[in-house]
Amino acid sequence: MQASVEKQILRFAQDDNLDHLCLLVYGRQTRICHFSESDMNHDHSLTSSSSPFSFFENYPEGGHLLQAGHIHVWRAIVDVPSTRLQVYQDTLSPDEQERAQRFRAPQHRQRFTAARGILRHILARYLRQSPREIHFESGAFGKPCLQDPAERSLHFNVSHSGQWAVYAVSRDLEVGIDLEEDRDSLDYAGLAERICSPEELTVFQNLSQTEQRAAFFRCWTRKEAFVKALGHGFSFPLQNVTVTFTSDDPPRILNLQRNLSETDSLPEDWSLFNLPLGQGFLGALAVAGRPSLIRGWDYRPDD
Ligand SMILES: CC(C)(COP(=O)(O)OP(=O)(O)OC[C@H]1O[C@@H](n2cnc3c(N)ncnc32)[C@H](O)[C@@H]1OP(=O)(O)O)[C@@H](O)C(=O)NCCC(=O)NCCS
Repeated sequence: MQASVEKQILRFAQDDNLDHLCLLVYGRQTRICHFSESDMNHDHSLTSSSSPFSFFENYPEGGHLLQAGHIHVWRAIVDVPSTRLQVYQDTLSPDEQERAQRFRAPQHRQRFTAARGILRHILARYLRQSPREIHFESGAFGKPCLQDPAERSLHFNVSHSGQWAVYAVSRDLEVGIDLEEDRDSLDYAGLAERICSPEELTVFQNLSQTEQRAAFFRCWTRKEAFVKALGHGFSFPLQNVTVTFTSDDPPRILNLQRNLSETDSLPEDWSLFNLPLGQGFLGALAVAGRPSLIRGWDYRPDD
């Protein structure tokens, strides 16, 4: 059984059309392979329970049971009907409601409200509390965490872009998640000069123009997921972390320029993953440690 799965990993790893990543879990070890959207849809071995990294239509029974070493990823649409929006709004704290009111554009206000309300609903399932009872506080650089010290080991992170939001939740490993929409108007070559380390820039500039675009998004989302897992956000200089980003390199941190005030961890202390989020979007997940299982679902309200 294991040998045939191993063969599949090699087959997908040799495929040129590599844009997503799948985790296959054997016992306590995590194996990584890439797969394309069509592989995900057509190969049953990749949608069976033995290969958990795909988004399911429905919230699974027992999905809130989050074991140590596991990461749950949720994907949600934040453009919701007004009745649903009201449900989310009613769960927000006064601070969050005030923050929502500061958005001038109604669409941005509504998306913030829905994204925060959905975060509360997702966490409520793990905490077995009502969404309204959850209290957040922020780290030194603004990363939200749970206020109750007894619950603070439930780690989570959020990213939103357009009508989508993604959430990562872990019982014991710090996580950072990033979602970006692939926008035509983006000056990716100019941005690469600002976010890439010197080593990355050399690799980037040697890629063909067609390769550069996808490579830039991989690089950007991986770095942003990392600085979000760290909790520093953009106050950690993105040039201080070097990641892989060409199509044939598995996601990985190669070098971390360390400054004790920023992080004292080593590249090998971290894991990076691509997220199969669908056409036009790129996502990455950074984990402080080695998760043994990553599962992803489309969020559906259950109340
Ligand atoms: C975190 C950050 C990288 C997000 O960038 P972005 O591409 O605009 O946004 P994303 O959608 O990917 O993520 C936003 C979410 O990240 C989370 N977040 C906020 N600050 C964070 C941090 N320092 N680390 C990790 N996650 C953070 C929040 O949940 C936020 O969601 P919210 O806006 O609904 O509250 C960026 O806003 C940042 O660097 N913030 C920190 C700024 C800072 O240094 N502040 C210091 C004073 S508080």
